[in-house]
Amino acid sequence: MNEKELQARLQRMERMLEISRDLTSTTALEPLLNKIVALAAELTDSEAGSILLQDPNTKELRFRTATGSQSQQLTSIPVPLKGSIAGTVLTSGEPLIVSDAQADPRHYGGVGQKIGEQIHSLLAVPLQVQERRIGVLEAVNKRGGRNFSQDDVDTLMTLAAQAAVAIENARLVGALRSAYEQLGKLDKLKSDFISIASHELRTPLSLILLYAAVLRDQVEDDAEEQLDGVIRAAQRLKHIIETMLNLRYLESGQMELHPSYLDLRTIVEEVCKDYKALAETGGLVLTKRLPAEPVSVYADDEKLRVVLNNLLSNAIRFTPSGGRVLVQVRRRDDEMAELSVTDTGVGIPSYELEHIFDRFYQVEDHMTRRHGGMGLGLAIVKGLVELHGGRVWAESVEGKGSRFTVLWPLAGHPQATAS
Ligand SMILES: Nc1ncnc2c1ncn2[C@@H]1O[C@H](COP(=O)(O)OP(=O)(O)O)[C@@H](O)[C@H]1O
Ligand SMILES: [Mg+2]
Repeated sequence: MNEKELQARLQRMERMLEISRDLTSTTALEPLLNKIVALAAELTDSEAGSILLQDPNTKELRFRTATGSQSQQLTSIPVPLKGSIAGTVLTSGEPLIVSDAQADPRHYGGVGQKIGEQIHSLLAVPLQVQERRIGVLEAVNKRGGRNFSQDDVDTLMTLAAQAAVAIENARLVGALRSAYEQLGKLDKLKSDFISIASHELRTPLSLILLYAAVLRDQVEDDAEEQLDGVIRAAQRLKHIIETMLNLRYLESGQMELHPSYLDLRTIVEEVCKDYKALAETGGLVLTKRLPAEPVSVYADDEKLRVVLNNLLSNAIRFTPSGGRVLVQVRRRDDEMAELSVTDTGVGIPSYELEHIFDRFYQVEDHMTRRHGGMGLGLAIVKGLVELHGGRVWAESVEGKGSRFTVLWPLAGHPQATAS
């Protein structure tokens, strides 16, 4: 090989490299196919190029893209696998040069007629990903009335190898994208439902609670007990609706904070007291470890309780009888207070840990779940903690237990809300 040939070869290789980069970075299928056919024509010095892909389901071979003025119409033409040029290449896996297409019985006449262009010469190579053939890449009409050479075959085969992988990737990305779109739609549906349901339920429920309370004051002894049942049930409903509303406000950025200076220890004491009975019923020991000094935070009292309520009720719910739940508060450093809830419960598989703070996410399958809940608690916890400038995360060993840690800005620290 002389120097000139060598240089030409180097240039081609460089161009291939550039092409390869370009193709792998194009993940939308249509633009990618357009690029590939343009390159097929450019690299083989031909008038046009085209791609046929095999439908994975029907096995039909169809034009997907072609250069040239009439390329639009081509895409609707199915090409028979048997007896056609593209079909032959797809089936055999071998490249094929046709120097006089009009005289070749395998030339599929419908194509030429449809695009109103004469096809003289044709070079077709298979598009192959590993062992699987997915279609055919063609260069049409070598310029200057010449024939396709072995060099053209090599070039187009190299391009086809890159192109096939890029096409597969683009298809996968496409499939992923539409799956995500579907998910997004479902998610929105859930959000809308929550939004509407929580709003529409709130008013009638307030009325039920109001009238039940009024009645309770008026009735005789034994009916009082039954009305208490009504009130308790209505309050549970109210709690569920408030949870849904909380999420809605958080997500729409409408959550308002009413902060004040609080001692984290006091809040923990009070909330733990509320859960003492529930823990005992579940056969659990609920303990707390608090520092001797106040841990002052500037926070929304009610929201802070929502956070702690959620973590505690989860810990109790997911810990079988005989277990322990520990609530700890300490100053982590000059900036942050640390609040943790540790249980000896069922734990969370490591691959689920990153998801549990997503709304509606529950480790146990929705339909077969033994535990109640909507899967919104931790999403709200995360939203509220972050709104206060804090952080929350979970650690867990499946079967052994979990620890949820919240870092909360200390009062006076710049990260503390509105200070
Ligand atoms: N302490 C815990 N131990 C084990 N799993 C937990 C714990 N806390 C949360 N989880 C898991 O995270 C999921 C989401 O929790 P959450 O958002 O509070 O929803 P919910 O309590 O309504 O199920 C729970 O369904 C559960 O699978
Ligand atoms: Mg919960």
